[in-house]
Amino acid sequence: MEVLESKCNVCHARRNPSRVFTEENMDAYGSSIYEQVFVRKRMPRGSSIRLSEQESNALKNWLNTLK
Ligand code: HEC
Repeated sequence: MEVLESKCNVCHARRNPSRVFTEENMDAYGSSIYEQVFVRKRMPRGSSIRLSEQESNALKNWLNTLK
């Protein structure tokens, strides 16, 4: 969750306000996050924000706990 806050929401709050991630909406967004980050690799967007390998693993593990 910290990864989402620091690496995703910073931008979504500005560019995509309907998708600011919270614990509450993870039921709805968990699978689309997985899809965008790990399958299609579209997010995070831009070159200034990248997930470190550690952050990427943390996010993946955490998403797995939701399912
Ligand atoms: C620098 C800006 C930026 C960052 C950083 C960013 N996003 Fe996004 N994201 C966008 C924008 C703009 C859209 C809407 C346009 C689009 O879908 O391309 C979007 C759309 C999405 C969508 C919806 C896609 C769809 O199918 O409609 C998801 C899910 C998403 N982002 C997940 C993430 C996750 C998870 C991260 C962090 C790991 C992240 N984003 C980081 C800008 C960003």
